[in-house]
Amino acid sequence: MWRPPQRIKWYPKPGAWPDEHEAARSTLFAPLSHRALQVQNRTWVPAMVPWRATHEGFVTPANIEWYARFAQGRPGAIVLEATGIRDVPSGPLLRIGDDRFIEGLSAIARAVREASDGQTRLYIQLIDFLSIRRRPDPRKFIERFLALGAHHRKALGVPESTDDETVRMQLLALDEANLKTVLTAREFESLRYGDRERVIDTHLRHVAELPQVLPELFAAAARRAREAGFDGVELHYAHAYTMASFLSALNTRTDGYGGTRENRVRLPLEVYRAVRAAVGDDYVVGCRYLADECIAQGNTLADTPFFGVEFARAGMDFVSLSRGGKFDDAKQPRVGEAAYPYTGPSGYECMPQYISDEQGPFGRNDSAAGQIRQAIRAAGLTTPVIVAGGVFDFRRAEALLVNGTADIIGLARQSLADPDWSAKVRAGQGEHVRLCEYTNYCEALDQHHEVVTCQLWDRTGLDQPGIARTPDGKRRLTPPAWVPAG
Ligand SMILES: Cc1cc2nc3c(=O)[nH]c(=O)nc-3n(C[C@H](O)[C@H](O)[C@H](O)COP(=O)(O)O)c2cc1C
Ligand code: SF4
Repeated sequence: MWRPPQRIKWYPKPGAWPDEHEAARSTLFAPLSHRALQVQNRTWVPAMVPWRATHEGFVTPANIEWYARFAQGRPGAIVLEATGIRDVPSGPLLRIGDDRFIEGLSAIARAVREASDGQTRLYIQLIDFLSIRRRPDPRKFIERFLALGAHHRKALGVPESTDDETVRMQLLALDEANLKTVLTAREFESLRYGDRERVIDTHLRHVAELPQVLPELFAAAARRAREAGFDGVELHYAHAYTMASFLSALNTRTDGYGGTRENRVRLPLEVYRAVRAAVGDDYVVGCRYLADECIAQGNTLADTPFFGVEFARAGMDFVSLSRGGKFDDAKQPRVGEAAYPYTGPSGYECMPQYISDEQGPFGRNDSAAGQIRQAIRAAGLTTPVIVAGGVFDFRRAEALLVNGTADIIGLARQSLADPDWSAKVRAGQGEHVRLCEYTNYCEALDQHHEVVTCQLWDRTGLDQPGIARTPDGKRRLTPPAWVPAG
């Protein structure tokens, strides 16, 4: 992962934890009610893919245990990991693109309800993504994948009638610097990073037709989520995926779904309306989007408060704010591997690590989130705003609520480090919290699609009988149980 060149090390210092009386009086542990969104407290576990699904996208017992374990800590809400809305093979990513997935997902919903005694709400993040290929072997790319055109012949200075084999031979003889002058920018990128579809590739029929197919795909997935017993859905409009790419300032589509910010938000609003029509007004529908894309020419606060107001005005029950996490500045993958959107500077903004700059890894999204919330409030709307990014301590979580930055606090990696965070802090036992160290060991596992665990607990008590482990037997799959003191 990319890290700021300053290399300043930051360690979580939580300050004084509240006793149970202070916790009980706090805004953090007060319920929140906004239309269908009813949470018992304002702690929120944002979506995190733990790579526990089957290769066909079905729920496994490990998925069920994972979410039940989070629910034992009784956060206000958990958002189930990004779950694919299409009925297409997507590796070990959960899927909801067909009714056959409902049964497994409903087992998670039941387990969460049971483990939290009905105290924790469960939402599911619905995702669509475009295809991305692994970085090719350069020889194979030129011999097999590159579609030859007149521009190659012209750049090589050979007659237009030159046969393909000769052109490919000439290309193979070039080094990377020279290839760069012969290939188009896009071809050169495909060679160096692997071919990646974009929403602006409207010459591809399935990309041109996204505005026609996505509303119904999201709506059908949301209908299934409701049937499976989830309390609501979070539309994934963030990071490197299809819907975020429609919102992006880099979206130059000319079919009414790109260009101006009004056009860029059009499909996200149409998807929302289709979902709302499918599930009704008494069901939670919100979205997660980027307060800042953190890439060159990407969305900034010049546009993102506008999107927040549009989503709130359309009737979303919440907006959850993340930042960065784009392919555009991702690290070059190794040959045979796919690019990963959290490896560049924008990825750092999304999941900031303890080796950082003067600003540090805690609260990099706070200011932007506060400005978006302010814009929503200025428009006369009361839609709850969720902020995430390096929250591990009660004091900062409470301050973010009291000073109007957000209405609900997302704790992603801190919940992974210690799913009992809410229960411990509420019980006045904050000193027993297993503090996240923001090393991003978990994120590195995610990057390689390996079963995600936390380094602070995955070797603890491994020798005890009945501990569920990773396939190699070296790590436990869920953290040890917390036994409250006294
Ligand atoms: C292992 C892992 C998987 C993640 N998967 C998702 C995901 O499926 N959807 C999503 O919107 N964000 C995902 N994220 C990002 C988190 O939800 C969160 O925005 C980010 O970690 C910053 O919050 P934090 O500092 O509280 O961890 C993931 C993060 C981690 C560490
Ligand atoms: S591995 Fe654990 S301590 Fe490290 S960043 Fe992830 S959750 Fe935090």
